[in-house]
Amino acid sequence: MHTHEKILKRMSSQLIWVVIVFIITTLVEGNRGIGEGCSPGDLRGLASFKDGIQIDTSGRLTNWVGHSCCKWEGIICDNTTGRVAEIRLPGFISTQEFLFQSQMKGRLSPSITLLTSLEVIDLGGLTGLAGNIPPEIGYRLPKLRKLYLYGNILTGAVPESIGKLSELEELALHENRLSGSLPPSLGRLRNLKVLHLYSNQFSGIIPGSFTNLTNLIHLDLHSNSLTGQIPDRIGQLQALKELDLSNNSLSGKIPQSLTNLTAISVLYLDTNHLEGAIQFPSSSGQMASLGFLRLQNNRLTGRIPLSFGYLESLKRVSLANNHLFGPVPSTLGNSLALTELYLDGNRLSGRIPKSISQLSGLIALSISHNLILGPLPQEMSSLQNLQMLDLSFNRLNLSTIPQWLAELPSLSRIFLAGCGIQGKIPAFLRTTPSPIQELDLSANHLTGSIPEWLGSLTQLYSLNLSKNSLVSTIPHSVTSLNDLGVLDLHSNKLTGTINQVFQIGHRFSDGSLTYIDLSDNSFSGGIEQISIGSQIGIQFLNISQNFLEGRLPISMGRLKSMKSLDLSYNKFGFNLPGALGNLSLLETLKLQKNHFSGNIPNGFLKLRKLKELDLSHNLLVGEIPLGKPLSDFPESAYSGNKGLCGKPLTPCKL
Ligand SMILES: *[C@@H]1O[C@H](CO)[C@@H](O)[C@H](O)[C@H]1NC(C)=O
Ligand SMILES: *[C@@H]1O[C@H](CO)[C@@H](O)[C@H](O)[C@H]1NC(C)=O
Ligand SMILES: *[C@@H]1O[C@H](CO)[C@@H](O)[C@H](O)[C@H]1NC(C)=O
Ligand SMILES: *[C@@H]1O[C@H](CO)[C@@H](O)[C@H](O)[C@H]1NC(C)=O
Ligand SMILES: *[C@@H]1O[C@H](CO)[C@@H](O)[C@H](O)[C@H]1NC(C)=O
Ligand SMILES: *[C@@H]1O[C@H](CO)[C@@H](O)[C@H](O)[C@H]1NC(C)=O
Ligand SMILES: *[C@@H]1O[C@H](CO)[C@@H](O)[C@H](O)[C@H]1NC(C)=O
Ligand SMILES: *[C@@H]1O[C@H](CO)[C@@H](O)[C@H](O)[C@H]1NC(C)=O
Repeated sequence: MHTHEKILKRMSSQLIWVVIVFIITTLVEGNRGIGEGCSPGDLRGLASFKDGIQIDTSGRLTNWVGHSCCKWEGIICDNTTGRVAEIRLPGFISTQEFLFQSQMKGRLSPSITLLTSLEVIDLGGLTGLAGNIPPEIGYRLPKLRKLYLYGNILTGAVPESIGKLSELEELALHENRLSGSLPPSLGRLRNLKVLHLYSNQFSGIIPGSFTNLTNLIHLDLHSNSLTGQIPDRIGQLQALKELDLSNNSLSGKIPQSLTNLTAISVLYLDTNHLEGAIQFPSSSGQMASLGFLRLQNNRLTGRIPLSFGYLESLKRVSLANNHLFGPVPSTLGNSLALTELYLDGNRLSGRIPKSISQLSGLIALSISHNLILGPLPQEMSSLQNLQMLDLSFNRLNLSTIPQWLAELPSLSRIFLAGCGIQGKIPAFLRTTPSPIQELDLSANHLTGSIPEWLGSLTQLYSLNLSKNSLVSTIPHSVTSLNDLGVLDLHSNKLTGTINQVFQIGHRFSDGSLTYIDLSDNSFSGGIEQISIGSQIGIQFLNISQNFLEGRLPISMGRLKSMKSLDLSYNKFGFNLPGALGNLSLLETLKLQKNHFSGNIPNGFLKLRKLKELDLSHNLLVGEIPLGKPLSDFPESAYSGNKGLCGKPLTPCKL
């Protein structure tokens, strides 16, 4: 009793205090009229935002009731004006206890512009926010500093008015379905530091006005449909550290002014239609004097290459998949910060410059699919940190894999396809300082056998020895390659059975194999006895064009991840197992040119994702099961089976 009284007393005195504080704040902030409540505009804006959302898996909006919006989750008010300053409801929620990807489904209400004191809107990564960016945003939210609407399904254009948000520092609209051209008014956002518009459907040119964004640090426009040239004056963006314009349809030359971007550390211009030589004449005095030194060092005459050498902060560069030609500039060796360099898929010629050996921090180098000539400079042996090297498909004509390459201390991913390598698979690959994870020696002239020691490359994830002249069986040791995910041995002269492939990585856990291509060899024997144990993650299996025979194992129905199965051009026979109908993800099924007999199982009607089917030239009989997808394939999918009838072939006779 006694204590109850005390508590009641304390409560009532607290209540008095609350009332006093309430009165004071009401007096002080009388202009708002409703005490702790929000400004009516803020409240209306937030209410209609909430109304627009049908699903909120985070549950954050359920507590948005009453008038005290400053206390709502995700809302931050300015503590002097009481106005809503920030809406922070990102999809990805991370607290000390948990990480959680939440979703909001619904429409972004244009009434969000009623919150006229907003400085930060973070509605990024909610994955389900639809609608447009409100056209009036630029007129209504003059204090906006950060606008994150990325990772949603917004459509429409970026409103021109956005150029009026003069305080804007970060604009992240990437990964939506926005379209139209980029408004030149964006170039007026002098305070902009981050501009992420990538992975949308923007078209048209990169407005020249963007070169006025002199405070910009990150500019990322990749994976849109932008055309035209990179603005000539891009070099004015002196603060730029990361520039990604890749995967668009940009054309023309890489502007010379790019070499003025001295702060740049990431430069991705790959997968466009950029052209020209990576070289042009000297212009600015500053560059020339810098260049003079380097010219001497590198014995170049007359011309200064578009030298990454001037870009001393450059760490990651990709100019891949363009139409660039001319030699790889030797001044490249001056970009000492370089860690990743991708020049693949161009028409670069000449030799790899010796100066590349100065890039001691280089981790990844890809120059595949060019016209580079051999031999490789021995100096490359000093690339102590190189982990990935791709020299595939050039005019290197290496004849042999240089031994120094196998001695690079960090190299674990080696791509030397189409390099004119002859002879046996060299044994020194067995003892590389860093265990090999990926090895591509395809499309060479390798002879001899697949070595037994292959099984000791225990970290091997991907092996491509296709398109050589290897003659042997697949050594049983492959079964110990527990991490193998990709095995491509197609188009060799390999013999024996293929059972061991299905035992790869059996012992401990589910296998990691997803891709197997053994096609176009001379494998023989049956596969009925193979046990599909842990290899249930296989998505692609091609064993076509061999001499394999016998029944298909029922256990094939366990390969639930299978998307593409090609058993064509073998001597398989007997009935087709109905269990194949269990492969519900199957998109491609090729069984033509075998000796399969009996009916097409009704279970095949369950293959709803099937896009490509070929059962032609077997001994199948009876009615083709009627219905999707089987009836929709052309006659040619079934032709050459004398006993088949029914749609799409001629109707069966009763
Ligand atoms: C207002 O909020 C800011 C940031 O949360 C804080 O640093 C400041 O002390 C607060 N001012 C008052 C008067 O409460
Ligand atoms: C860049 O800004 C200046 C000064 O405001 C202006 O005169 C010029 O037209 C702008 N450039 C572009 C390409 O919009
Ligand atoms: C390139 O952009 C297209 C859309 O324009 C996209 O579908 C594709 O995934 C992008 N590719 C890469 C490698 O980012
Ligand atoms: C590079 O910057 C210098 C100094 O700011 C300037 O004089 C020169 O014109 C610029 N070069 C290019 C090609 O934009
Ligand atoms: C490649 O090198 C080998 C051996 O050095 C030589 O016999 C062959 O003619 C060369 N092939 C080409 C296309 O240059
Ligand atoms: C293996 O190499 C061949 C020839 O270079 C290529 O066509 C094939 O796509 C590669 N296989 C895989 C799985 O990448
Ligand atoms: C399977 O391999 C053969 C021969 O290498 C090739 O012609 C065929 O296109 C491949 N099948 C699939 C589905 O990729
Ligand atoms: C696989 O297919 C067979 C034959 O159609 C059927 O009896 C069996 O229940 C299926 N198994 C699963 C797991 O769907």
